[in-house]
Amino acid sequence: MTRIAMLGTGLIGSSYTQALHAGRSRDRVQLVYSRSPENAAAFAAKWGVDRWTANLDDAIGDDSTDAVIIALPNDLHERAVMAAAKAGKAVLCTKPLGRSSAEALRMLRAVEAAGVFHGYLEDLVYPPKTLKGLQSVQAGDLGRILWVRSRETHPGPHSDWFWNQQRAGGGAIIDLGCHCIEIARAFIGKDIRPVEVVCWGDTQVHPIEAEDHAIGMVRYENGAIGQFEVSWAFRGGMDLRDEVAGTEGTLWLNHWLRTGMEMYSAKDSAQCTTEKSERSGGWMFPVGDEVAALGYNTMFTDMLDAMDQGRQPSETFYDGYVVNAIVDASYRSIQSKRWETIDLPIWRGR
Ligand SMILES: NC(=O)c1ccc[n+]([C@@H]2O[C@H](COP(=O)([O-])OP(=O)(O)OC[C@H]3O[C@@H](n4cnc5c(N)ncnc54)[C@H](O)[C@@H]3O)[C@@H](O)[C@H]2O)c1
Repeated sequence: MTRIAMLGTGLIGSSYTQALHAGRSRDRVQLVYSRSPENAAAFAAKWGVDRWTANLDDAIGDDSTDAVIIALPNDLHERAVMAAAKAGKAVLCTKPLGRSSAEALRMLRAVEAAGVFHGYLEDLVYPPKTLKGLQSVQAGDLGRILWVRSRETHPGPHSDWFWNQQRAGGGAIIDLGCHCIEIARAFIGKDIRPVEVVCWGDTQVHPIEAEDHAIGMVRYENGAIGQFEVSWAFRGGMDLRDEVAGTEGTLWLNHWLRTGMEMYSAKDSAQCTTEKSERSGGWMFPVGDEVAALGYNTMFTDMLDAMDQGRQPSETFYDGYVVNAIVDASYRSIQSKRWETIDLPIWRGR
């Protein structure tokens, strides 16, 4: 059993808690932090969490929990990670790890210097069908991987802070592209060095400074290409798709729209709406178990098993830092309109 302190009571704090408490799990969120006492108390009551606090340092330093999960806006990740490292606490952080690779590198160094367990909560390499696809790829069933295309598009984020470039560290690339980049990296091979990026990004729709659309290509040292496509202005829900092309085979994954369940209701049907769907009613594409389909359950199984077994999980702060370095180079490429080198002061692969 793992006793967890959840930092944040928004969308992802709720999804994580649902996944952690799913089925007959013995792992428990035992303490929740929100800066608003009302939100903390309401979250605790809703999800059966014993205790709450409106003090971040108290939540992190609490002696009766084994690990903290950071489910706070991007500009608060570093502050929370540093406090966890100082308190000697195991720490799991949502994506993106940092707003920049400089932030991510400081976080990686801090947890490694403190010797604490660290996990990067990149759920989209953990959906059951992605895990199955990764097994096939690693067994060589698709031959040499040449090209991975990963797409995440939706109408735009649900909270104000995402739209603030300073708080978020960017727009659709840092928010959605971080998933696509790590999905491609997982299929191509995490020991293969990502070398350079060319990226287009623009603000086509929303009245914001950051990009609401982008397409990028990441070139790996073995010649493979990881392509990401992101939008904060896509209409019709959330489009989450991956395509893997190898010399001996092809893999297509669709995680959200058209997953095999299609339903029409002439009424307003709140039952069957999914995250980021624009309408409740008419033709809908429900997802049977949203947290499972997004990989949260399998992700926490890996994270918490790794903690128990004294090993590293599949996704650590090192992976978060590599993703941030690719995102940084993508932003540089938008400005320069050229291929930009990915700057990795620490590289642990081939
Ligand atoms: N699939 C995923 O892995 C996934 C999905 C969504 C969000 N996220 C990540 O989770 C993090 C939170 O996103 P979210 O969607 O839950 O956001 P949210 O806005 O729904 O929730 C954010 C939480 O942080 C709190 N908060 C905001 N500003 C604060 C401040 N200044 N001080 C203290 N608390 C503050 C809010 O009250 C809320 O409890 C982000 O880093 C985001 O990128 C990950």
